[in-house]
Amino acid sequence: MSSPETQIRTGNSAFSLKGRKAVVTGGGGLIGAAIVRAMADSGASVTVLDKADDDVRALFKNSDPPINVANCDVTDFDVLADMVNGIDEDLGGIDIWVNSAYPRTEDWGAKPADTPMESWRRNVDIQMNSSCLLADYVARRMATRKSGSIINVASIFGVVAPDFQVYEGTDMTTPAAYTAIKGGVIAHTRFLASYYGRSGVRVNAICPGGVRGSNQPDSFVDAYGKRTALGRMANADEIGPPVVFLASDAASYVTGSALMVDGGWTAI
Ligand SMILES: NC(=O)c1ccc[n+]([C@@H]2O[C@H](COP(=O)([O-])OP(=O)(O)OC[C@H]3O[C@@H](n4cnc5c(N)ncnc54)[C@H](O)[C@@H]3O)[C@@H](O)[C@H]2O)c1
Repeated sequence: MSSPETQIRTGNSAFSLKGRKAVVTGGGGLIGAAIVRAMADSGASVTVLDKADDDVRALFKNSDPPINVANCDVTDFDVLADMVNGIDEDLGGIDIWVNSAYPRTEDWGAKPADTPMESWRRNVDIQMNSSCLLADYVARRMATRKSGSIINVASIFGVVAPDFQVYEGTDMTTPAAYTAIKGGVIAHTRFLASYYGRSGVRVNAICPGGVRGSNQPDSFVDAYGKRTALGRMANADEIGPPVVFLASDAASYVTGSALMVDGGWTAI
């Protein structure tokens, strides 16, 4: 028999986020918006933090239930801790936090030989450090209430190397720093899961494979699809439900994981 602390909802209700207060950074992005919609559909009250807040307000203008949108620059390191504390107080406790903001430098996407040291440093700072610091600040607050779930959006390229054949005939690539950043995010996810586990806070990463987006050359889309078990790239909407799972009671014994949502890319 389970102890009272380990008794959870079972069946479909375990996947519900009804009554939960969720915050999604970068919630106006391709993946972030899909996560926001999936969480709202599952009953969560969602707040989006995004630098492009006007665009994001327009994106969610007619949402039912309404989505709250606030301006935030996750790279403004001096204010992040106070910002998290303020949001936690305003909401009466953050239940779910998703890091999906994707800040990057203007030269992001260059090949290793064309990437100056300063660019590498800056991207590690604004991409990895912002995500890690925010997760830590949020976990501290959640720990005081002995409850909460944090999900970091990482990537399969934090786990396996890119297969550069999929970029042949295009000017696309995966920057070297991306693998270092995403590998770092996944490792730090595990650190936080261990550090805050006994305080009732779960911390997980999700590792999407390539998501179909605009401006992707057909040759890349074809080659990418062939490299996966399912034979295609992901639709952004397919990333939301696995995040809902990690956020919900259905994942009450899941922490420190890096969940692949990749059409089987990493299985092959
Ligand atoms: N798109 C993919 O194929 C893919 C695959 C695997 C992993 N990912 C990861 O998913 C995450 C989201 O990627 P995406 O494709 O949705 O990117 P995106 O560019 O579509 O969206 C990123 C969002 O972050 C916001 N943002 C940028 N800088 C910010 C800042 N300083 N402060 C606050 N918000 C800021 C943008 O306004 C935007 O709404 C990233 O971590 C990315 O590495 C993406």
